[in-house]
Amino acid sequence: MTPQERIAELTDRLNYYTHQYYQNSVSEVDDFTFDQLLAELAELEKQYPEFRYPESPTTRVGGTISKEFATVYHRFPMLSLGNTYSEEDLIEFDKRVQKGLNGQAYEYICELKFDGVALSMTYENGLLVQGATRGDGIRGDDITNNIRTIRTVPLRVGQVAGSGEQGARNGEKSKGQVAIDFGAEIPLAPSSELPALFEVRGEGFLPLAEFERINKEREDIGEPLLANPRNAASGTFKQQDSGAVAKRRLDCYVYSFLSDQEVFKTHEESLIAMKQWGFNVSQTWQKCADIQDVMRYINQWEEKRFTLPLGTDGIVIKVNRYDQQRELGYTAKSPRWAISFKYKALAASTVLTGIRYQVGRTGSVTPVALLTPVLLAGTTVKRASLHNANEIERLGVRLYDTVFVEKGGEIIPKITGVDLNRRTDQSQPIIYPTTCPACGTPLIRKEGEANHYCPNERGCPPQRQTRFEHFIQRRAMNIESLGEGKIEMLIDKGLVETPADLYSLTSEQLLGLEKVFLDRDGGPEEIGKKRVVSFREKTVENILTAIERSKAQPFQNVLFALGIRYVGNTTAEKLADYFGSMDAIMKASQEELLAVPDTGPRIAESVVAWFADDYNRVFVEQLRTAGLQFEGEKKVVEREGDALAGKTFLYTGTFANFSREELENRIEANGGRLLSGISKKLNYLIVGENAGPSKVDKAQKLNVPMIGEDEFLAMLEV
Ligand code: IVH
Repeated sequence: MTPQERIAELTDRLNYYTHQYYQNSVSEVDDFTFDQLLAELAELEKQYPEFRYPESPTTRVGGTISKEFATVYHRFPMLSLGNTYSEEDLIEFDKRVQKGLNGQAYEYICELKFDGVALSMTYENGLLVQGATRGDGIRGDDITNNIRTIRTVPLRVGQVAGSGEQGARNGEKSKGQVAIDFGAEIPLAPSSELPALFEVRGEGFLPLAEFERINKEREDIGEPLLANPRNAASGTFKQQDSGAVAKRRLDCYVYSFLSDQEVFKTHEESLIAMKQWGFNVSQTWQKCADIQDVMRYINQWEEKRFTLPLGTDGIVIKVNRYDQQRELGYTAKSPRWAISFKYKALAASTVLTGIRYQVGRTGSVTPVALLTPVLLAGTTVKRASLHNANEIERLGVRLYDTVFVEKGGEIIPKITGVDLNRRTDQSQPIIYPTTCPACGTPLIRKEGEANHYCPNERGCPPQRQTRFEHFIQRRAMNIESLGEGKIEMLIDKGLVETPADLYSLTSEQLLGLEKVFLDRDGGPEEIGKKRVVSFREKTVENILTAIERSKAQPFQNVLFALGIRYVGNTTAEKLADYFGSMDAIMKASQEELLAVPDTGPRIAESVVAWFADDYNRVFVEQLRTAGLQFEGEKKVVEREGDALAGKTFLYTGTFANFSREELENRIEANGGRLLSGISKKLNYLIVGENAGPSKVDKAQKLNVPMIGEDEFLAMLEV
C-alpha cells in the first residue's frame, strides 16, 4: 500500500470509528489502537502533507491558536424565537398559524429547546468548511477550528475518503484512483440529495457529565469552579486555543438544515436525512397533528427532560412543511412559523434545617444547605448548594426559613430565594463559622476570594482525607480499592498519617480491622444510618496488591498525586515531559518552570513553594524510598541544530507555517528557549497574524526585537 493509500484508509477508518463510538455508542476498537492509528496518520501526514485530507481526524485535536476570530456573515440570518409560557399563549400561536395558512391542513414538529450556544456549520462538497457563532444574528465569529473538535460534528458527509469516485473531494489532490474497501461505512448521502453548498445549525453544549468532571478536576487543584454548563460551553467555544477546546468534550445537537436548493419538502424529512448523513440529531423530536398533541409532548417531557445529557429550558414548535413556513414568513426578529414554550423553572419550597460546612482538599470551606426532603422533578431533594458566605448574604436566608429550591442544568439543586411570608419566630441568623468546622483552626479569607479557607493543611482531618483520596485516584496512583471509608479508617486507627505511609502497611496491621460509620451525608433524617467497613482477607490482599502495583504508575501520575495546588493532570504531564525527573523539577527555579509550555507564574510559584517546604520534602523522600517512579521519559525534541542556542523567544498571533506546537518544537529543537512573558530577558518576540496588541506594545516599550515568521525561518537556516 502506498503512503497515499494508507493515509486515505486511516482517514476513513478513524472517522468511521469516531462516528460509531460517539453517535452509535459502538466501540469497534480499543482506545490504545485508536490512538496508535491516529499517531500513524499524523506521522504520515507530516511526511506527505500533500496527501492530507481536509476531513482528517488529526484536525480534531486542535493545536491552532488565534488571537482574534475572523468575522463571518451568515448566508441566512440567525434569528431568535418568540417565547410562550402558557397553554393560552400556545393556542394564540396556533390560531395565528391557522389564519396565516388560510385553512390549509398543517402539522407541527416539536423539539426540545437545548440550553447551549447556537452554532452554524457550512458544508461545501460535503466538507465542513466553516463553523460560526450566532453573533448578532447577521455576523458571527469564525470558530471552525473549535467546532472541528466536536466529535459528533462530521468533518465530511457523503463519500468517504477512500471510496473513490468523486473528483471534488480534495481539489487538485483528489485521488479518484484510490479505492479502498475496508467494510466500514458511514451512512452515505445519496449524491442527488446532497447539495454542493448547505448549512446546518444546532446547539453546541457541554454535556452535564463533562461539566461535572471539569469542575471536580478544578476543585481538586484549587481552581475556581465554572458557574453552569451553558456559560462553560459559551466560554469554551470562545477560547483561542483549539487544543484547550478539544480537551473539553463539547457536543452539538443539530436542528436545522438550510440551502439555496430545495432539497426537502418538510422539516421532518430534513431531520431524518441529517441523522442518516451522520449528524447528531437528538431523537427527542416528534411530529404533532395539532396543538393538543403539542401539549401532550410538553407534558411528556416536563420531567423526562432531566434525564437528557444537557440542560433544556423548554420546547420548540415548528410548522412542518417548508412551503407553509415560507407562506407564514418572518417578523423582524423571528419566524412566524415557530415558537418556543418555556417550562416554568421547576421549583419547590421546603425548610432549611441546617448547614453543613464541607472542607475540601485545598482547605476551601463550602456551605451546603440541609433541607426537609421535598420532591422535585422526580427526585427527592435533601441538600442544595449555597456556594459561599456571599451567597448566603445575597439570599438573606436564615435558619428554619422556608426556601425555594430549583433545578437548573446542574445536578445539585440550588436555593433561589426565601419565602418571607412564611418566616416564623423560630428563624435564626446563619452565623458563618470563624473557625474550621473540622479542626477548629481560625479560617482565613484571601483578598478578592469568595471562599473561606482552613489553613491547617496538615492537621485538618477532611483535608488530610481528601489528600489521600486525591493520591489514590485512578489518574494518580490508582489504588482505588482503598476508597469508600477505608482511608478514613486507616487514618482513625493511626496507621497512616500521609499517603507515603501506605507503602509500609502490612497484612497483620490490616486484617480484622472494622469500623462502623454513621452516615451523616443526608439531612438529619438520615443520621443513624449505619455502614460497616471491615477488612477481611480478600480485601486486605486486594489493597496490598494495588499498593504494590501503584509503584509502577508513571512519573507524571506521581507528580500529579503529590497534590500541588494548580498542578492538575495536564500540567503534571507537561512538567514531567519537560523535566523528565522529580529531581529536575525540585531543583527548577521559577524562571525555568515558566519555560514549560502553558506554565504561568501562578503554577510556577506554587511548585517552587511546595518543594521549598521541608514537610513536603520529607514526604517526597519517603515516596522515593518506597520505590515510586521518579523518572519519566523526558520528551526530548529531536535536535535539529544550534541556530537558536542561548536565545529566548515568545510568540504572539498565528502563523502560516506552524501550529503553536510546531513553533514551540522548532524553537526547542534548535536550542532556543521559550519564555512565558515579555521581559528584558526576552531576545525575540515572533509576531504572527492577528498579534496581541498588548504584547506588541510591551515589547516596544522594553525594546525587545520583534521578528516575523519569515525572519524566524531565516534564523533557522543559518
Ligand atoms: S430552531 C429561527 N430548534 O434557541 C430560530 N432553536 O431563540 C430557529 N435552540 O438561537 C431556531 N434548541 O440556539 C431551534 N430545537 C431547537 C433549539 C433551538 C435550542 C436555541 C437556538 C436559537 C434559540 C432561539
